[in-house]
Amino acid sequence: MAEPAEIMAVLECALVRASDLSDRKIMVTAGPTREHLDPVRFISNPSTGRMGYIIADRAARRGADVVLISGPTELLCPPGVKRVLVESTAEMRAAVLDCIAGIEFLVMAAAPADFRPVKAADSKIKKSAGIPRVELEPTEDILKAVKESGADCMVVGFAAETHDVVENARLKLAGKGMTMIVANLVAEPGSGFGARTNQAAIIESADDEAQLRMTTKVELADDILDRISALNA
Ligand code: CTP
Repeated sequence: MAEPAEIMAVLECALVRASDLSDRKIMVTAGPTREHLDPVRFISNPSTGRMGYIIADRAARRGADVVLISGPTELLCPPGVKRVLVESTAEMRAAVLDCIAGIEFLVMAAAPADFRPVKAADSKIKKSAGIPRVELEPTEDILKAVKESGADCMVVGFAAETHDVVENARLKLAGKGMTMIVANLVAEPGSGFGARTNQAAIIESADDEAQLRMTTKVELADDILDRISALNA
C-alpha cells in the first residue's frame, strides 16, 4: 500500500495537470509524410504518429487549445483537438505556416520525409519499362521555415536517432533554434516508431545532464507538457 504522502503527491499532480494549460495555444505535428514516386509508390518512414497524438490528447485534456497537423495515420483525432491532415512534407510545411499565427508552443513530433523524387510519375511506373532511376532532392525543413516566418512561438523538437542520441540532439537543439528537444532512440525494440514506450531524454540547454530513460509515451507526453507549463508560468 502506498504511503499517504505519495498518494497526496499523485493527487496534487493530477489536480495541477487538470487545467494548467488552460487556453494555451499549442500546435503539435505528428506522423510520417509521404513523397510519391508514382500514384502507388512513395518514400516514407515507420512513424505511426502515436507520440504526437498522445501529446495532443494530453494537452487538450489539460485545457490547451490544440491544433494537430498530421501525416498519414490510422489514429483517430483526439477529442477537442482541431486536426489538419496532410500527406507530403511540403503540405505539412504549408499547413504549419497557415495555422501558426497566435501559437505559443509548437511541438514538432512529426517525422517528415527528408527527400523526395525530383519528378513523380503521373501514372503507375510499369516494371516492363525497366528499373527506374530515381533522382532525389531535399524536402523543406519545416522548423527552418517557421523560424524564417518570424513566428513568435517556443519550439519543442524531437531528435530521432539510432546512435549518439544525446550528442546529436544537443546539436539539433542549438542548430534549429529550439527551446527544448526530446532525444529519442529509434529503431530499437520498445523505443521509437510505433512503440508504446520510448527511450528518451528531454534537453533544455547544452549543459543539461541528460540520460536516456525508458518511459511510456503517455509519461513522456506529460513530462514534456509539465516543462511547457513551467516555461509558461
Ligand atoms: N523536422 C522538420 N522538417 C523536416 C525534418 C524534420 O521540421 N523536413 C523536424 C522534426 O519534426 C524534429 C526535428 O526537425 O522535431 C529533428 O528531426 P530529425 O529527423 O531528428 O532531424 P533532421 O533535422 O531531419 O536531421 P537528420 O535526419 O539528418 O538527423
